[in-house]
Amino acid sequence: MSSFDFYVSPVPEEIWGVPMAGNTRFSWDYDNGRDQLLNLYQKGKDKQWDARSRIDWGLEVDPDDVAGLPEEFNPLSGSRIWDRMNRKERTAFTRHQGSWLFSQFLHGEQGALNVSARIVASAPDMDSKFYAATQTMDEARHVELFSRFLREKSGMYYPVNQDLAKLLAESLEDSRWDLPYLGMQVLIEGLALAAFGLFRDLSTNPLVKQLLAYVMQDEARHVAFGRLALKD
Ligand SMILES: [Fe+2]
Ligand SMILES: [Fe+2]
Repeated sequence: MSSFDFYVSPVPEEIWGVPMAGNTRFSWDYDNGRDQLLNLYQKGKDKQWDARSRIDWGLEVDPDDVAGLPEEFNPLSGSRIWDRMNRKERTAFTRHQGSWLFSQFLHGEQGALNVSARIVASAPDMDSKFYAATQTMDEARHVELFSRFLREKSGMYYPVNQDLAKLLAESLEDSRWDLPYLGMQVLIEGLALAAFGLFRDLSTNPLVKQLLAYVMQDEARHVAFGRLALKD
């Protein structure tokens, strides 16, 4: 089955092209890396995990409620719309909401994969390139993990949210090398870390808790990189 069979509403099958701007930078200085960045690079290498073997994919997930959040965290809960919904409608809503949420995580991870690869090319220093290469691998593993989770546990993809797509495109389109750092590493990674933390803590589902805990280990390094790099 193709991904397109899983989307709740049709998405374009063509590739979305965001034009690249600015230079790919080469440096002939292979020494003099900054200790803090090199440490982060080393950690990135040491702490790789494999979603295929590390995650307990056999854990049950209710497809009607993949996030497994208590009802009071549903944004509609307590509203007149919610009160008027019958049980079947509420179940359908929660099912779509869970799929929407994890789909945005998935598309955001693909954005992070592209932006970190872009940072490898555009960053001027070797230590930043090294570190961003580990992050690129991290983000590939995250895309793998969220797409498998959605396919196997929810059976439904949602298209990318247009504001998220805009933020990703703006981070990529700028020719300055530090804008992807700011857009991706600080804004998007920071938001993702907060959202993952919230769902890891509140979800009643053991698989969701487990996979978010692993992803968060990596995301904490990504946010740390954005802060370090921008300080300089
Ligand atoms: Fe990620
Ligand atoms: Fe990340």
